[in-house]
Amino acid sequence: MLVPKSHLEIVLILFLSCGAFQSVHGLENGLALVPPMGWMTFERFRCMTNCELFPRDCISEALIRRTADLLVSEGYAAVGYQYLIIDDCWMEASRDRATHELQPNLNRFPSGMRVLGDYIHYNGLKFGLYHDVGEKTCMFRGPGAARHFELDAQTFASWGVDYVKMDGCYATEEDIDRGYPDFGMAMNLTGKPMVYSCSWPFYKSKPDYALIAKHCNLWRFAADVQDSFASVIKIMSRYSNKQDVLIANAGPGRWNDPDMLVLGNFRLSYDASRVQLAIWAVMGAPLIMTNDLETVRPEIKQLLQNRDIIAIDQDSLGQPGKMVLKVQNFQVWVRSVNPMNDVGDNSFAVAFVNQGGYALCPLCPQKFEVPLHRLGLKSRMGYNVMDLFNSTENLGLFKPKDRFITRINPEGITFYKFTVMANY
Ligand SMILES: *[C@@H]1O[C@H](CO)[C@@H](O)[C@H](O)[C@H]1NC(C)=O
Repeated sequence: MLVPKSHLEIVLILFLSCGAFQSVHGLENGLALVPPMGWMTFERFRCMTNCELFPRDCISEALIRRTADLLVSEGYAAVGYQYLIIDDCWMEASRDRATHELQPNLNRFPSGMRVLGDYIHYNGLKFGLYHDVGEKTCMFRGPGAARHFELDAQTFASWGVDYVKMDGCYATEEDIDRGYPDFGMAMNLTGKPMVYSCSWPFYKSKPDYALIAKHCNLWRFAADVQDSFASVIKIMSRYSNKQDVLIANAGPGRWNDPDMLVLGNFRLSYDASRVQLAIWAVMGAPLIMTNDLETVRPEIKQLLQNRDIIAIDQDSLGQPGKMVLKVQNFQVWVRSVNPMNDVGDNSFAVAFVNQGGYALCPLCPQKFEVPLHRLGLKSRMGYNVMDLFNSTENLGLFKPKDRFITRINPEGITFYKFTVMANY
């Protein structure tokens, strides 16, 4: 039977239930206020475990120490690449018999994860590790977290882990929906803040992004990236096809993750490398490289360390961008960024993609032109335009009615910052 309640009681109940709601559903670990930047093993080094045959390529503490050194000595750390993340295949096949703790493979990680974490931290970097919320890791090399959430979260915390990439293999959709929040809670209870990267949506037929965003700092919305332009384009279209829901749930502390930057490997041309970097920055994606930092070509290293593009990715407005126009083989992607002017108009980063394949000339540079207001650039004060790939190139002042003209290489991109003018 319903008993009428006093106003005070109702206010109290509302207050308490809001508090409970937040503690259950809010991921407030204070991390990833801008998209994390770093390096991860998987796309380049996969699950290579044979260190006798391939000592430089196997997943081992030697690879991680070498990469930590290079992140610092080659200048990547100084521009923001901070998280050094070991993907799958670091584990021993089974848990410790007595304690049930996870263990790293002893041949490849003889010093243990605590010591490796210390080495990473000593270099001013942060330490990331892979795990799986189900019965086994995806490469089937080690145990998943199933039935050991508290223990594994404690183990990670005791190793000084700062970032957890949580995969979802060998679990049912129901296990997944319970597992991601529960492991997040287990991490929270350790008291050690850890970025929580979830593959959750990838394992759902109908992902609930609003729910996922309450529990994760990052979420993978598409399949694994491969070392090819086709793969980059495919992930871009996964994003643009559902960009409204993806954008609605992202912002400081919670970001869409289109997977690693494959720049610096074998298959991306220079122009395709520019495409991936620029569009990832427009999306507000984590910038997580996967490459052998010792063999990255100088021009690709220069791209990866382009401070103007990194600043777009890390922009403090915290609003992910989107594809606003698709004509023939052209796409235009736009992100609102700082600075704002004194009447509240923001600046923009605008990327013009030539996907290639245009019937009349599939592999030609092509001209594209558009009046700026069609892209949503409407400040009557106008914009000062800079080429983000070449900051010495200032293109001058453009008003919303002006047509912007650009010439784009095949399977390439041009990328500009439109800085809004002050209201004099
Ligand atoms: C745990 O969650 C609470 C409430 O959301 C939050 O204030 C706290 O910072 C979290 N701690 C860690 C270590 O993530």
